Amino acid sequence: MIKTANEMGLGTIVFDANSKSIGSKFCSLFINIDFSNTNKVISELEKLISNGMNIKGISTMGSDVPHILSEISNYFGWIGPSKYTSTLTTNKLMLKNKLLEGGFPVPHFSKVYDYNSVVKFWDSIKCDNLILKPVDQSGSRGVKVIKEKSEIKEAINHARKFTKLDYLLAEEFIPGLQISTESIFSNGICSTPGFADRLYNTTKNFHPLIIENGGWVPSILNENDIKDIKNLIESASKFLGINSGISKGDIVLHSNKGPMIIEIAARLSGGDFSESLVPLSSGVNYVKEAIKICIGKEVDWFSMKPTSNFVLANRYFFIPPGKLSNVKNIELIEKMDEVVKIKISHKIGSNVKPIESHSDRGGVFIVNAESRKLGNEVIRFIYEKVKFKINGRWVTGNPLHYNLV
Ligand SMILES: Nc1ncnc2c1ncn2[C@@H]1O[C@H](COP(=O)(O)OP(=O)(O)O)[C@@H](O)[C@H]1O
Ligand SMILES: [Mg+2]
Repeated sequence: MIKTANEMGLGTIVFDANSKSIGSKFCSLFINIDFSNTNKVISELEKLISNGMNIKGISTMGSDVPHILSEISNYFGWIGPSKYTSTLTTNKLMLKNKLLEGGFPVPHFSKVYDYNSVVKFWDSIKCDNLILKPVDQSGSRGVKVIKEKSEIKEAINHARKFTKLDYLLAEEFIPGLQISTESIFSNGICSTPGFADRLYNTTKNFHPLIIENGGWVPSILNENDIKDIKNLIESASKFLGINSGISKGDIVLHSNKGPMIIEIAARLSGGDFSESLVPLSSGVNYVKEAIKICIGKEVDWFSMKPTSNFVLANRYFFIPPGKLSNVKNIELIEKMDEVVKIKISHKIGSNVKPIESHSDRGGVFIVNAESRKLGNEVIRFIYEKVKFKINGRWVTGNPLHYNLV
């Protein structure tokens, strides 16, 4: 986002509590404070404005903080998520209640407190599997699938670790293809340039955790399904008050019930989706349009039209816990034409902890290919070649091997 703003000829002020933040290297001005301290951000901005700096708007990417953007943009009269939208999209229970009220398809859900309330809800809906999650988190933190009643207590304890609230959300688990969408809105006009199939079948051995292992663009779905999903996410986002801004949707396509909404966030994705997968596949860079929206400029709707349709995939490394003393073959993989990016998250010498959520994944790579079949061959090759030395033993980062080491 910072690089895109620079390319657009805009200056950028970056706020980050981390003094070594990567963004600090690319921005015009770096302010080393925690952006969740909105009063401090506002007073810093006021100082700059009173010194004559022409500041036009605020945005972010990846961080699920619409409430912070809302407060700051409201204060200065910039375009940002409304208080209404940010309240709804940062509490999964409020969000589900609102979507249900609007008649949008969502899984059966209930506010739950303890073992008995989970059992009561499960008995009332009679589905195979249940999902339990905290309402105020992201990145799969605290989310678990429950297949049997004996798993309920542990799932409650796990979810509670991630929330300060005294309740959790239980949902019917909806089987089907999971989709990520990303839509942009300007004065009520919208487009959904982001559309990816998400991959969960390689992470089955993480049960009861539910961890995504990347995805594919373009989607394998047919035009009608894609259109239905886009219509659904666009109308639901508008219903949540998103008029000028971004919405990121988690959708599941149930074989009988059609598309259902798991979640809507009022922000741009992190994790390569808007940054790499969509622009490299379709030629559409909607990060640029997202920046234009927050500084009050007209969106170029024409640029939302795909100019290409390449197959792109991102996958993650799942490094088992222990001391990481070496990594091999990264340079070899970097040289491959099909490899767009490869990045390891852990430093040599660090202690890798067991995976609990998306943020614990050990690294990522992105490949392009002429087809999914060829893409899968490249992915298999990379998982085979890249090795991690954990507690003195060489292991792969393939999620299918995670429990076998
Ligand atoms: N009701 C559900 N049915 C099927 N899968 C679900 C359901 N709820 C959550 N999931 C899965 O768990 C993941 C994380 O849940 P989500 O509510 O999106 O929380 P987060 O904010 O952590 O992304 C989703 O992306 C989806 O794969
Ligand atoms: Mg989600």
